Amino acid sequence: MYDIALFLHSYNRWLVLFFMVAAVGHAWWRMYRQTEWTERDALPGTGFRMTANLQFLLGLALYLLPQGLARGAWRDLGAAMEVEELRFFGFEHPLAMFIAIGLINTGWQRSKEADSQKGKRRWAAGAYTIAALIILMMIPWWRPIARSLNLDSESDSRITDISQLEGEGDADNGKNIFRESIDGQPSCETCHTTDNSRRVGPGLGNIGTTAGERVSGQSAEQYLLSSIVEPGKYVVDGYSNIMPTKFGDVLSDQQLLDLIAYLLTLRE
Ligand code: HEC
Repeated sequence: MYDIALFLHSYNRWLVLFFMVAAVGHAWWRMYRQTEWTERDALPGTGFRMTANLQFLLGLALYLLPQGLARGAWRDLGAAMEVEELRFFGFEHPLAMFIAIGLINTGWQRSKEADSQKGKRRWAAGAYTIAALIILMMIPWWRPIARSLNLDSESDSRITDISQLEGEGDADNGKNIFRESIDGQPSCETCHTTDNSRRVGPGLGNIGTTAGERVSGQSAEQYLLSSIVEPGKYVVDGYSNIMPTKFGDVLSDQQLLDLIAYLLTLRE
């Protein structure tokens, strides 16, 4: 459910942007030409309004479903405000888009009801333009632009097998890595608590024990390595496949060993 909404939200964005350009361009062209505003002139705006409202409903689903980043943010408000990713999806993005969509609907309605020709053109051009600026500013362009619905997304991590890692892990260092943002990726702590309470991902308070039991025939070390470098391979029940897939590229061998060593110490 969550993954489908995320997929649709990601692609409907392009429809919104298409109608946005059409609606803003058309309204300003009419302002410039000062020609009569007929029912047909409302069409690009109607497209903008409909796609934007659909986008809002999809966004609302993402906001309310328990798998999402936003619900994760609400679970721990203090922590969420510190973490850019959670603050953005929990508060800034939905609030800004709510305002933009309100503007689009108001502009569309007022333009339709305005008594004067001038009023019709002005409402459309003004409201759509401000909404467009907000939308362009608040789209998370740094997130995957084209999402795939491929739920077992392959990661291209260098290391996928525990036998490729040599040496000893340092659990204390692993604890630090767990808390730090790694090469632009949100930190592990952004999404995981080290007790058993849920954040965006499962609480890891007992992962030292459960890691060895998740996949039959797989050692705890191998399971933890896979969880970090190929998180889509095994998806914990009740959660979505939204853990970043880049960790295998950005963590060094030693950092992977340290993290695994640290996770193994978490037993309640
Ligand atoms: C953006 C949120 C997010 C970040 C950041 C994140 N994870 Fe996850 N993680 C998840 C989600 C969601 C799941 C559950 C779905 C799955 O299994 O892929 C998960 C699952 C896991 C699991 C399996 C838990 C279990 O009970 O079997 C482990 C272990 C794990 N993550 C470790 C890490 C480590 C270590 C980091 C940092 C290097 C990290 N995660 C960063 C969201 C995240």
